Amino acid sequence: MSRALATTPSNSPQLLPPQLDATRLPRHVAVIMDGNGRWARQRGLPRVMGHRSGVEALKRTLRLCSDWGIGALTVYAFSTENWTRPGEEVTFLMTLFERVLERELEGLNREQVRIRFLGDLDRLPDGLRSLIDDATQRTAANTGIHFNVCTNYGGRSELVRAARRLAEQVACGDLDPAAIDEGRFSAELFTQDELDPDLLIRTSGEQRISNFLLWQLAYAELHITSTLWPDFDQEALLGALLDYQGRQRRFGSVESQA
Ligand code: IPE
Ligand code: IPE
Ligand code: MG
Repeated sequence: MSRALATTPSNSPQLLPPQLDATRLPRHVAVIMDGNGRWARQRGLPRVMGHRSGVEALKRTLRLCSDWGIGALTVYAFSTENWTRPGEEVTFLMTLFERVLERELEGLNREQVRIRFLGDLDRLPDGLRSLIDDATQRTAANTGIHFNVCTNYGGRSELVRAARRLAEQVACGDLDPAAIDEGRFSAELFTQDELDPDLLIRTSGEQRISNFLLWQLAYAELHITSTLWPDFDQEALLGALLDYQGRQRRFGSVESQA
């Protein structure tokens, strides 16, 4: 079977490294892919070259997560605040998203990846919108990893949108306000039926959430690495997963007594 996502010379699936416990992998990994601009600057290149190189890191990470049996990968590709960047950078990113989607869709589909784009997609260029619609429809029934790309995504606007959708249902008499609970609320988020992320990785050393998955990250374990996103590789992902497996998740409770 062709491995369209592979960026290594070997086209065979990467086996789970023996250091990892297959029974304690995160079911859902979220990533703030940060540091593309700095990666480029360090090399004397324009910022956009960092974004181009970041695509390779994303392909690598998706391939590894899929091979290692992680159920869902959600990445932050473009925030609602990123529109404030210089126009040329925004245009470059939109064109890059289109090109990559066009080029990779067939391979992703063949590999059973289910792709979704989370965010306010109405503001994206028409060409990108139609590629997104096509990719979402074509891969909807796929049985492999859930790959969610947050594009024009902001956690606050997602929460406001959910509140508005519930209010509309109440206003037209379809919903009793007393029936609104956490489950009902989270069903109105872009992530809908996805489990909450178990692990959040942020590259480039910044120690903040930057308006990402504000609701869903409530109990995620955080792994912050100084590695810049384009340099994020197998060793870096392994490091994040080992860090995760060393954590004790308590969810507000106490350690179980031996
Ligand atoms: C992340 O890298 C990619 C996007 C936000 C689209 P940056 O472009 O933020 O890179 P730095 O943080 O400036 O190095
Ligand atoms: C977060 O990175 C958004 C994405 C990775 C798409 P930013 O670079 O935009 O975040 P700040 O500005 O450092 O908080
Ligand atoms: Mg940044």
